[in-house]
Amino acid sequence: MRPPIDSGTILITGASSGIGREIARQLARRARTLVLVARREERLEALRDELLAHNPTLGVMVERCDLSHPDEVDTLLDSLHRHLVRVDVLVNNAGLGDYGLYEQESWSRIHQMLQVNVEAPVLLTHRLLRRMLERGRGGILNIGSGAGRMLRPGMSVYAGTKHFLEGFTESLRLELSGTGVVVTLVAPGPVDTEFREVAGGENRSARPSWMRISAERCAREALEGFERAAPLVYPGLAYRWMMRLASFMPRPVMRAGGLVVARRLRHGTSLLEPAHPDARLGRRVLLAGGPEGA
Ligand SMILES: NC(=O)c1ccc[n+]([C@@H]2O[C@H](COP(=O)([O-])OP(=O)(O)OC[C@H]3O[C@@H](n4cnc5c(N)ncnc54)[C@H](OP(=O)(O)O)[C@@H]3O)[C@@H](O)[C@H]2O)c1
Repeated sequence: MRPPIDSGTILITGASSGIGREIARQLARRARTLVLVARREERLEALRDELLAHNPTLGVMVERCDLSHPDEVDTLLDSLHRHLVRVDVLVNNAGLGDYGLYEQESWSRIHQMLQVNVEAPVLLTHRLLRRMLERGRGGILNIGSGAGRMLRPGMSVYAGTKHFLEGFTESLRLELSGTGVVVTLVAPGPVDTEFREVAGGENRSARPSWMRISAERCAREALEGFERAAPLVYPGLAYRWMMRLASFMPRPVMRAGGLVVARRLRHGTSLLEPAHPDARLGRRVLLAGGPEGA
């Protein structure tokens, strides 16, 4: 079973940047219509012009939507309904992270992460799935994260949202087996996009180069996995092997590793050193050498 990409209508959230924009570029050769969703409308319009220059027969809808506002998601869905757009494939890609100690994060940022990373994909899936089931074909491609498979002190909320997305996606996939709707989770490691900048960690070079991949490669491998109806895709060879090996790591070992990072984050020390009373470096410590990947 393959997702209906060829000549299908595909809605991509977070198409203004990074992985989402690359997914749009790669699907533009094959889809009938792309619905591009994000807040930065001018970026979406520039992408639309670029895609149409390569494929003038492609239909492109630009939908400005702040996914942290459920009423804007409803407005987006109303607009699709008004334009008689029937979505065959939903790509839940938009997401954001944050670095730092949980108590130091603002509630508005935490809430925004919950809305964009959790509520929006769940809501869009709920609104669009029924029609896919009626037609007996469809696809849902969710972009999670390696953080959704690990313990990530310093990114507790982000990791929590991606753990949710993993549980939701894999469970839904089982519910939908045999219905014609393909469900795939992609769990990338470090990808060169604006993610880290948006999360407040501009130091891109601190991420190990052997694991880092381009957004183009991430999108390509994500789509290849989706077309194979793979349950879970780790884009990038080195990262894929690392994650496969990590899946054998006993939970206590994972916790011990996380504790070292957490101590460094909160106290500026490792487990082996005494805590410095004034060393609440939090964010800076993590960025200087904390866990990699989003
Ligand atoms: N880059 C990595 O290292 C990495 C690793 C693992 C997983 N991921 C995941 O990959 C996905 C894509 O991230 P990326 O790396 O491509 O980052 P990115 O370059 O920062 O792109 C994020 C996209 O999400 C959209 N977005 C953010 N907040 C939004 C909101 N309130 N409403 C609507 N759209 C919103 C942004 O559009 P606007 O700002 O225009 O709204 C942008 O298009 C995310 O789910 C992320 O968690 C990334």
